[in-house]
Amino acid sequence: MMMFQVSFFMLMAVVIVTSYATMERQTYVVHMDRTKISALDHSLGDTMRWYESVVNSINELSTQDVVEKDTVRPELLYVYETAMSGFAAKLSIKQLQSLKNVDGFLSATPDDMLSLHTTHTPQFLGLKYGKGLWNAPNLASDVIIGIIDTGIWPDHISFKSGVSPVPSRWKGICENGTKFSPANCNNKLIGARAFFKGYEAAAGRINETQEYRSPRDSDGHGTHTASTAGGNVVAGASMLGFAKGTAGGMRYTARIAAYKVCWARGCASSDILAAIDTAVSDGVEVISLSLGSGSHPYHSDNMAIAAFGAVQKGIFVSCSAGNSGPSESTVSNTAPWIMTVAASYLDRSFPTMVKLGDGQVFKGASLYSGNPTKPLPLVYGDTAGGQGAEYCSDGSLSPELVKGKIVICQRGMNTRVEKGEQVKMAGGAGMLMVNNEEDGEELFADPHILPATSLGAKAAKAIKNYVTLVKNPTASIIFQGTLYGSPAPIMAGFSSRGPSPVGPDVIKPDVTAPGVNILAAWPPTVSPTRLNSDKRSVSFNIISGTSMSCPHVSGLAALLKSVHKDWSPAAIKSALMTTAHTLNNKRVPIADAGSNNFESANPFSYGSGHVDPERASDPGLVYDISTEDYLNYLCSLNYTSFQMAMLSRGSFTCLNNGVTQPGDLNYPSYALVFDGVGAQNSSVTYKRTVTNVGLSWSRYIVQVKEPDGVSVMVQPKVLNFKKYGEKLSYTVTFVVVGRKTTSTTSSFGSLIWVSWKYAVRSPIAVTWQ
Ligand SMILES: *[C@@H]1O[C@H](CO)[C@@H](O)[C@H](O)[C@H]1NC(C)=O
Ligand SMILES: *[C@@H]1O[C@H](CO)[C@@H](O)[C@H](O)[C@H]1NC(C)=O
Ligand SMILES: *[C@@H]1O[C@H](CO)[C@@H](O)[C@H](O)[C@H]1NC(C)=O
Ligand SMILES: *[C@@H]1O[C@H](CO)[C@@H](O)[C@H](O)[C@H]1NC(C)=O
Repeated sequence: MMMFQVSFFMLMAVVIVTSYATMERQTYVVHMDRTKISALDHSLGDTMRWYESVVNSINELSTQDVVEKDTVRPELLYVYETAMSGFAAKLSIKQLQSLKNVDGFLSATPDDMLSLHTTHTPQFLGLKYGKGLWNAPNLASDVIIGIIDTGIWPDHISFKSGVSPVPSRWKGICENGTKFSPANCNNKLIGARAFFKGYEAAAGRINETQEYRSPRDSDGHGTHTASTAGGNVVAGASMLGFAKGTAGGMRYTARIAAYKVCWARGCASSDILAAIDTAVSDGVEVISLSLGSGSHPYHSDNMAIAAFGAVQKGIFVSCSAGNSGPSESTVSNTAPWIMTVAASYLDRSFPTMVKLGDGQVFKGASLYSGNPTKPLPLVYGDTAGGQGAEYCSDGSLSPELVKGKIVICQRGMNTRVEKGEQVKMAGGAGMLMVNNEEDGEELFADPHILPATSLGAKAAKAIKNYVTLVKNPTASIIFQGTLYGSPAPIMAGFSSRGPSPVGPDVIKPDVTAPGVNILAAWPPTVSPTRLNSDKRSVSFNIISGTSMSCPHVSGLAALLKSVHKDWSPAAIKSALMTTAHTLNNKRVPIADAGSNNFESANPFSYGSGHVDPERASDPGLVYDISTEDYLNYLCSLNYTSFQMAMLSRGSFTCLNNGVTQPGDLNYPSYALVFDGVGAQNSSVTYKRTVTNVGLSWSRYIVQVKEPDGVSVMVQPKVLNFKKYGEKLSYTVTFVVVGRKTTSTTSSFGSLIWVSWKYAVRSPIAVTWQ
C-alpha cells in the first residue's frame, strides 16, 4: 500500500512540475532575515501587513523597468513567523526577480509536493498498564501532540473526549469546513486545521466530491497515525477479526491536534510549513511528520528549517525515514535535530499456507478474512492474458483463462490489492502474489478482496517450476489468523537506509519502531484496501510504512516529556537512542528482512536500535544539544553566512576559530568516514559531554567494541558524577588500523558507558570511501 502511495505521488509530482512550466505564476517559499524584518515592521506594527506591503511593492517594482506589465498581481498565501521567517506567495518570474532586491530577502524555492511515508504494539514495547511510564500519576499531565498528515476522523472512538479540560496554554482552534465544525473537537482532539492554499495553487481546487476541504480525513493515513501516537485505549479493537485486542496510542492520555496538509495528489511544502509554523504558535509539544521527499542540504530543506525553528522552541520533532529501502543512502529527514524513525516488524504475523497438488507447502501472509480455498486449478498470470498479465495489471487478464482458478501475480507495477481486484473482476477464485528475485522473502499481509496471499521469491521459483512441469497444477490457500511470538523486531526491507546522503557525520536513521502491519484507527468511509470496489467498512485498519513507526516515537516522546518536563528535545532523543536495543525477543541480533538471508541488521538500518520506552525514561546519562551547538555544527560544515541565515534567521555569526568539527556535535552516536585505501594511521578526535540524569553519585566505566579497521581510545575511561545534572566531558580518538576485510564499505562498533545500574550506548558506524 505504501509502495503504491510513493510511486503514485512521484507520478503526480511529474505532472505538476510539467504544469508549472506552462503556468504564468507559481508558488515560492520565501525565506527572510528576521533581524531585518523586525527592524522594518515597526512602521506597520504587524508582520502580516509588512509582508502584504512587500508583496504589493514588488508588483510595482516589476512594472517599472519592463515594457509589458505583469498583469497578474502577486498573491500572498502564507506568512511564516514562528518556526521560520518568511512567506509563501504566487509570483511570476519577474516578480520573483524584483523580490530579490527587497532588504532581508534570503532565498525563494519553488513549492514542491511531498509524499506520505505510508494492538499489541505497547506490550511489544514493554509498556504495561498501571506500571512504569503507564502508571496513573505520570499520565495525569497532558502533552499536546501535533499530527501533520491527511487530517482526522474526529468521531472515532479513539478520539472520544477525555475527562480533564483542555490545557490553558493551548491557543489552537478547531476549524469549520466541509463536514467539519468546531463541535468535532473535544478535550481529546483539541485542535484541527486544514492547509491547502499551496496545494490548490499547484493542483487546482480540491474536488469536494472526492475529499473534504476541511480537517476531516478522506484517506485514513492521518487518522491512523494520530491514534498510534495518542489515541484512547480501545478494548476489543481488530481489523476483520485480525490482531484482536486493545488498541491505544503510545501516549494515550495526550491531547491531539490535527493539521491536514496532504490531499489526493500529495502534500505541498508551503502548506506543511504553514502547519508547522501554526502548530508551534498553537502550543504543541511534539510534532509528528510521516511524510518526506528526497534529501537536500539542511539550508535548502524547508522541512529541516521549520523543524529547527520548532526544536529551538523546545518542541520534539519526529519524522519517518522513508520507504525506499533496502538500497543504501535512501534515508530522508536527516537533520540532526530531527528524530528520524525506521520501521520494523512486531512479533505478530498473519500466516497462510499454500499447498500445491504435489504436496509441497509454502508459508505466506495475508489479511484476507474468509474461508480457505479447496484445491483449485493454478495458472500463471503471464499465460492468462495480454500485456502486463504477469503483474495482473489493469484489464490484462482474460476471463476465459482465469475463471475459477487461482492466479499467480508478480509483485510490482500496480498495488498488491489491485492485483486481487483484477483477478476477482476476471472471475478468478484466488491469487498468489509472488515476490521477484530482488524482492527477496519479505511478505506483505494485505486485506485482499478475494482469497489471496503474499509469497517470497523462493516459493515463487518452486511454484513456477511446478506449474510448468505438471499437467493440471492445483493449489489451495489456508488462512491461519493472527500469530504472536515470532522473532522480532526484524527490520523491514522497505525501511530507508543510511548512510545519510546529506550529513555523513551523523548516523541516520536514529532508531527503529514498529511499522509493519500496525493496527490503528480508520475512517469508516474508507475501505481497508482503499479500492473503490471494496465495500467493506472497518474502524481499525492494518497498514505498514515508516509513516506508522514515526507516530510511535512521537507518542513515546510525549510520554517522556510528561515525566521529564525539563528535558530538551535533544535530551529526549538521546534517552530514546542510548537505551535502544539491538537484540530481538530471542536475544539474538535483530535481523534485516532487506538482506538476502535475514542477516543481522546494522546502524544504517536501525540507527541506535529499537526503542525501549521504559529504559528511556531512566537513561542514566543524556547527550544534550543546545540551539547554539546546532548552529556551531552548521558553521563547521562551512556554511556561508547566507546559508547560516536560512537556519538562524539572521541572528548568528560563526566564529572562525576552527575548534569545532562536524563530528563534535554532541550527538549520541558516532559516524565516521575514512578513505578505504591508504588511510592507515589517519585519525580523528571528537569531544562529547554527558549530563547525569540518573543517581547523583554514580561511576561510569567505558566499554568499547571497536569497528573492524579502527582502534578507539577514550579519555578519560571513567566518569565519576557527584550530583544530579552534573556535566562531564570525554574525548574519543578513532585511528585507522588494518582492516580484516576490505570487501565491505562499512564497519560497526559501539561505545557504552556502564555503571552498576545503567548502560548508555552509542553505536559507531564507519563508512569506507
Ligand atoms: C461552516 O462550514 C459549513 C460548510 O462549509 C457552512 O455551511 C457553515 O455556514 C459554516 N459555519 C460557520 C459558522 O462558518
Ligand atoms: C470530482 O470528482 C468526481 C468523482 O470522481 C467526478 O465525477 C467529477 O467530475 C470531479 N469534478 C471535477 C470538477 O473535477
Ligand atoms: C571546512 O573548511 C576547512 C578549511 O578549508 C576544511 O579543512 C574542512 O574540511 C571543511 N569542512 C567541511 C565539512 O567541508
Ligand atoms: C602507522 O604507524 C605505525 C606506528 O607509529 C608505523 O609503524 C607505521 O609505519 C605507520 N603506517 C603508515 C602507513 O604510515
